[in-house]
Amino acid sequence: MTAASPAALRVVVLVSGRGSNLKAIAARADAGYLPIRIEAVLSDRANAGALTWASERGIATAVLAPQAFPDRETYGRALGDLVAKFDPGLVVLAGFMRILSDGFVNRFAGRLLNIHPSLLPRYPGLHTHRRALAAGDREHGASVHFVTPELDGGPVVIQATVPVLPGDDEDSLAARVLVQEHVIYPRCVEWFATGRLALRDGVPWLDGVPLDAPVVLDGTRD
Ligand code: GAR
Repeated sequence: MTAASPAALRVVVLVSGRGSNLKAIAARADAGYLPIRIEAVLSDRANAGALTWASERGIATAVLAPQAFPDRETYGRALGDLVAKFDPGLVVLAGFMRILSDGFVNRFAGRLLNIHPSLLPRYPGLHTHRRALAAGDREHGASVHFVTPELDGGPVVIQATVPVLPGDDEDSLAARVLVQEHVIYPRCVEWFATGRLALRDGVPWLDGVPLDAPVVLDGTRD
């Protein structure tokens, strides 16, 4: 997969579940839009569907179960060592449902991206769709951000908005958001891989300009 030109950026993807964002990124790479090579797909859960998908494609996979470690920092060190074996230029969190240790985050600072299913800073943490519905929000969405030690608090690079429609439940809203996730995450990875995006002194720079606000794709118009 992912045409391995000499300039291809080495990417490690961390997953906990089905991996639809992983697949969206891989599809854009396969289509020639992303100069990346996915070196490994790693998970905290042995039953993550994304692992099967990756190994069927010949991508290295591994599971590191947190239960085998006494605390988050120790797990973070071991996970960091595992990730580092693949010498990544970029680490992509794609539905990795575990809070990372500060040590891990600092080790990969500036080359660690996450996707979160809300318009950050609204709704960090879990159950974002439920919380948006409960709040009566008319707009919801997803964000891609550089990861910092603050949970879902790192600088946001790109967001996509979607409408909250009458009759929506968590599932219908999640599905609408997910379509947009599959647009913004590959785009953000592309910006990073082509050198258009970098984190400098905690600020994302895109095309040589500091982002004082995220790029926003309006997914409210179908
Ligand atoms: C995605 O909706 C992603 O935004 C979310 O998990 C899902 C993973 O789906 N991530 C988080 O909630 C992280 N806090 P996927 O496995 O199909 O990519």
